[in-house]
Amino acid sequence: MPLMNWDQSLDIGVEKMNAEHRDILDAMNIVYDGANAGQSGPAMMAKIARLGDITTRHFADEEAYLARIGYPELEIHKGIHKKLLDDFAVHAQAIAAAGGVPTSAFFTFLRLWLSAHIKCIDLKYGNYAKSAQKAA
Ligand SMILES: [Fe+2]
Ligand SMILES: [Fe+2]
Repeated sequence: MPLMNWDQSLDIGVEKMNAEHRDILDAMNIVYDGANAGQSGPAMMAKIARLGDITTRHFADEEAYLARIGYPELEIHKGIHKKLLDDFAVHAQAIAAAGGVPTSAFFTFLRLWLSAHIKCIDLKYGNYAKSAQKAA
């Protein structure tokens, strides 16, 4: 069973960002499936590093997009991304120190990040993009 499935509640109305969110979700599920299959060590750390890379790239893309559309809350959003990456790094370091065995706290963090960040924080710019289009 995957950590999370894609559903309509994750649709923020911006196609490219939806696609990148799906990539993050897939990468999370790959980590989760690996952990459930008993994987640890370097193989698991590689999956976690891949999730980190995909997320870092997404945040940069998303911030560039928000700058392009003149999103007024860009700086706040950037700060939230930075905090997520910092927290991610703390989890990844703890997991590496424990021999590459992901903790349930790590998966709780990932699940929360997807649901809270995409459904609330990202949805806000999705709605802004929609109304800005209407106004144009
Ligand atoms: Fe975001
Ligand atoms: Fe996002």
